[in-house]
Amino acid sequence: MEWKTKITEMLACKYPIIQGAFAGLGRAYLAAPVSEAGGFGIITAHNFKNAELLREEIIRAKEMTKNNFGINFTLMPPKLSEEYYMKMVDVVIDEGIKTIFTSAYKAKRIGEKLHGADVNWIHKCATMKHAIATQNHGADAVVIVGVEGTGFKAPLQNTTLINMVMANKKLNIPFIAAGGIGDAHGFLSALSMGAEAVCMGTVFMAVKECPISDKSKERMIRQDCFDPELFQKVYHHQSKDSASPSMAVGVVEEVLTAKELIDTIIGESEDILYRWGFEGSCFGTVD
Ligand SMILES: Cc1cc2nc3c(=O)[nH]c(=O)nc-3n(C[C@H](O)[C@H](O)[C@H](O)COP(=O)(O)O)c2cc1C
Repeated sequence: MEWKTKITEMLACKYPIIQGAFAGLGRAYLAAPVSEAGGFGIITAHNFKNAELLREEIIRAKEMTKNNFGINFTLMPPKLSEEYYMKMVDVVIDEGIKTIFTSAYKAKRIGEKLHGADVNWIHKCATMKHAIATQNHGADAVVIVGVEGTGFKAPLQNTTLINMVMANKKLNIPFIAAGGIGDAHGFLSALSMGAEAVCMGTVFMAVKECPISDKSKERMIRQDCFDPELFQKVYHHQSKDSASPSMAVGVVEEVLTAKELIDTIIGESEDILYRWGFEGSCFGTVD
């Protein structure tokens, strides 16, 4: 079955499945297999000290896949400012990357520079208030992360489901759902709620290509989702480590390759659609 949404069109990828930015781990070894499998992989720029090291990583990823992948700039002022990224923007444009994700803080200046170079600018934020501001600043699309997801938390953050309900009402640009998504049910639900793609972090942390220890992956598989400690970390901002697994850990049952994970989500989604009586050869939000 063909999958066609505003985001697969914008990113020129096969499936509306995006691998989230990863501090430490967001490198070619993860991004390239995700893109190679038809998803959209992301290299996280702040894993590199300078623009030339980022360029080397982009070249490495290009050697691993001919498919498109993106770069994330996580703005964490004063530690990682716009200035840190401006030289990287030039490299990214020079290397022909067509989509940049920014996240966390205001990215209007970077966005304007990207638009000048005909590069897609997608900003990731944690609240609808920031999603609306992002739209007003001219982003091409927005990722909205619900409170059940991993990453930076905002005091007034909503759930992924409520974000999607509100995004349909308040946004004119395409939105991508993130937070707690990791299987076919979550993926299809998000698309049916108006999202044009999903962005997943936790479940990609458990794939074979992600270089965390086997022990950590085993811990994810065994994680009790009713553990009060997990609950406190995810919902009550009590994690010192903003990159610990989210509630999506509940769907991690085995260690798969990125391709096996994507194929499973797509295959099971197609089964669900057929059970619902869908008879088309293309599922999508655009003609
Ligand atoms: C190991 C790890 C590191 C992350 N690092 C970053 C980061 O540096 N920048 C960022 O914008 N998001 C980061 N995130 C958040 C993800 O990109 C994504 O938005 C989030 O994981 C989605 O929620 P989920 O984990 O429930 O799928 C990280 C997530 C994980 C699991």
